[in-house]
Amino acid sequence: MDTSIIAQIAYLVSAILFVSGIKQLSSPATARSGNVRASVAMLLAIVVTLLDNRILDWTTVAASVIAGAVVGGVLARKIEMTAMPQLVAVFNGFGGGASAAVAAAEFVRLEGSGPGLGTGVTIVLSTLIGAVTFSGSLIAFGKLQGIVTGKPVTFPLQKILNALLFLGVLWVGALLAHAGMGTAAPSWFAPIHTDMNHAFFLALVAGALILGVLLVIPIGGADMPVVVSLLNSYSGLAAAATGFVLGNMMLIIAGSLVGAAGLILTQLMCKAMNRSLGNVAFGAFGTDGPALAAKTGERPVRDVDAEQAAMVLAYAGSVAVVPGYGLAVAQAQHELKKVCDLLEERGVRVRFGVHPVAGRMPGHMNVLLAEADVSYDKLLDLDDINAEFDTTDVVLIVGANDVVNPAAHDPDSVIAGMPILDVDRARTVIVMKRSLSPGFAGIDNDLFYMENTLMFFGDARQQMSELVKEVREA
Ligand code: TAP
Repeated sequence: MDTSIIAQIAYLVSAILFVSGIKQLSSPATARSGNVRASVAMLLAIVVTLLDNRILDWTTVAASVIAGAVVGGVLARKIEMTAMPQLVAVFNGFGGGASAAVAAAEFVRLEGSGPGLGTGVTIVLSTLIGAVTFSGSLIAFGKLQGIVTGKPVTFPLQKILNALLFLGVLWVGALLAHAGMGTAAPSWFAPIHTDMNHAFFLALVAGALILGVLLVIPIGGADMPVVVSLLNSYSGLAAAATGFVLGNMMLIIAGSLVGAAGLILTQLMCKAMNRSLGNVAFGAFGTDGPALAAKTGERPVRDVDAEQAAMVLAYAGSVAVVPGYGLAVAQAQHELKKVCDLLEERGVRVRFGVHPVAGRMPGHMNVLLAEADVSYDKLLDLDDINAEFDTTDVVLIVGANDVVNPAAHDPDSVIAGMPILDVDRARTVIVMKRSLSPGFAGIDNDLFYMENTLMFFGDARQQMSELVKEVREA
């Protein structure tokens, strides 16, 4: 059989594996196998492409796969869950950079040959989106890693400068794309003669790289997960454009899937925070803002120690656990699971209320709880757990803050309208965190001062270990 037919069949198999793998990611129960499927699809697509185009021989392919697998495997095992967003940011950046590099190579190969408007447009798009994704992702990585300031960087006329740069980059791109037709452009459009020349192409790359930086620096570090998701979508679009440049069906399919999935995820995250994408991109959220934390300490709270918290929990009929970012920071999920097991042995009904944006990345809490072997059927989403709070004896909040902040019901609050877990409707609320400090949104939380709230101060991991001991003895 013709090798190109074998390649097309392999691409078809890859595409089916990609689509079904992504479908499996929609449930925690099937997510692992979805991941494996999509990885196998990617491996198949890469190997087939390399062999079909006679780019590399079998030995080199095998050696590269082993080297890549070792690096990827070690990285995945070593990376802390809290550092996952920056790892994804780097991956997106490399994806965008790779697309731009392939487009650049095609540009050099086809320069002056008049490859046609279609090829010109796709080379320009792939370079533009790929380079914006590359530099934007590196800034997102820097902000998440603390290398670049997490505060929004703003300056006068910033939006106008960005708009002018964007228009300039589009103009250079249009010139290059037109040059692909091999005919001279009208002088009003192209006052300088261009034959898809290097200087214009370099200007396109430089402009796109600067644009990527300028678009991400005004966004606060805490909004980076949304930005990373959006850049993920861009990296998919860049790959799809590169697929058109190379005439590679697999790249078009995989890139479109990533582009669409990233965009949907971005929208879901914005919805769960009740913020528009425009507000995330241009709202400079996370500036110093009203320092409501200054109020902390002025109002009395009731605090308990591990023994008292254990008593309240052990003699409850039903307990709802609300995990948040602090659980991930403290890596307290395994101790939390032990507490829940002990409570269940005593006949307490235990459920987990997972807010869609608890933590710092989509599915953050689901992954943590899965790591600790918490059964999926005990995880309730926002609406389901909210329907249960009226009949819940105790809510145990572990390192969560904004997602349980009643300020979301105040129209003047910065988190106004954000759907929250209405934990204050339960009989007793225990909040485990280290202090009265605010969470991501930087605002005070009235929940801490309510009559039915008990503050259980301390590091979540340490306090959970204490709680395990105390519940066992209760
Ligand atoms: P946060 O509101 O950020 O609160 C986390 C709390 O954990 C902090 O108040 C902190 O209080 C506590 N904490 C930190 N380290 C701890 C430790 N070692 N032990 C115990 N507690 C610790 O978290 P959340 O409730 O999960 O809400 C998530 C926020 O992130 C939301 O505002 C959301 O909009 C935003 N966000 C999320 C996403 C996604 S996709 N998840 C994306 C973008 C933005 P102390 O310092 O007093 O301990």
